[in-house]
Amino acid sequence: MSKVLILPGDGIGKEIVAQAVKVIDLLNTNHGMGMNLVEGFIGGSAYDETGSPLPEDTIVVAKECDSILLGAVGGPKWDSLEWDLRPERGLLGIRAELDLFSNLRPAILYPQLANASTLKNEVVSGLDLMIVRELVGGIYFGQPRGVEIKDGERFGVNSATYSESEIARIGHSAFQIAQKRDKRVCSVDKANVLEVCELWREVMEEVSKDYPDVELSHMYVDNAAMQLVRAPKQFDVMVTSNLFGDILSDCAAMLTGSIGMLPSASLNKNNYGMYEPIHGSAPDIAGKDIANPLATILSVSMMLRYSLNQAPLAEKINAAVNEVLDQGYRTKDISAAGDRIVGTEEMGNLIVDAIE
Ligand code: IPM
Ligand code: MG
Repeated sequence: MSKVLILPGDGIGKEIVAQAVKVIDLLNTNHGMGMNLVEGFIGGSAYDETGSPLPEDTIVVAKECDSILLGAVGGPKWDSLEWDLRPERGLLGIRAELDLFSNLRPAILYPQLANASTLKNEVVSGLDLMIVRELVGGIYFGQPRGVEIKDGERFGVNSATYSESEIARIGHSAFQIAQKRDKRVCSVDKANVLEVCELWREVMEEVSKDYPDVELSHMYVDNAAMQLVRAPKQFDVMVTSNLFGDILSDCAAMLTGSIGMLPSASLNKNNYGMYEPIHGSAPDIAGKDIANPLATILSVSMMLRYSLNQAPLAEKINAAVNEVLDQGYRTKDISAAGDRIVGTEEMGNLIVDAIE
């Protein structure tokens, strides 16, 4: 029996997570999955409910669970709150609190959706790359930080910091993932300008000695951004810092034409994980039954594979997604002329039917 904390969050979070829960219920009843769900609050809705974007209770329950499934956080309603109360602080807070340092963001092009990409078919067809993003360090969390008054004017500061051990552990994650793939790691940095990146590069070299079967290369982040849109299939695993990974993973997602399709995992050293779609809370379409629930459903698949040791059930979900896409069903975000456009609910039902 596993226990999973469901955090729908804000915006479309609730409706997409509801579809994933349907899939979980079905796998429990028909396929003996044995997943118990508890629900909690995070983000803006947690603020509305409790006055904090990350209630203490959410952390306590998260620590009792085996994994977390998160929808999305944020929305204009909470943008004017003071810094510490904003929905994003809840997300960054839970990552830090649970030490979810290893963020896996796969970018896979579904052949059925090749036309959804803005890039030429031959550039992206067959794309399957994995971005491994360090998630609890770097400039997102470094001290000192803040805005102060200095010499009579406002002065803003953030600090890009990494210790040797922080770099080494994300390096190990990346190499271990590469061992199960095409055995190539490209480490992305800005070592020609930043000392912290020079250390990053050195430590990656040291870690690579433990993985003689994996090839390590290095690339500056500006070039990596260019290569991602020029020839993305050259990459197998990319490993990079928190901020660079944030930027490059949005870019990689768009190569597949469908940010609504991509799941992610954020793992700690015990493979405890928080799983979430990589897209945001899309407040503009919330409650309209048009959001794409597939990234969230695929996040359940990643959870089964990476944290719960139930890869055969993960495969069932992936196969169902493929089957439904093969049948030509699409939510609006991934549709082209001639597709059968369905809403959030119906897409969830189609996946459930395909698994049954
Ligand atoms: C992401 C998001 C978050 C981040 C935001 C919402 C804080 O962009 O998960 O990529 O910057 O990490
Ligand atoms: Mg981002």
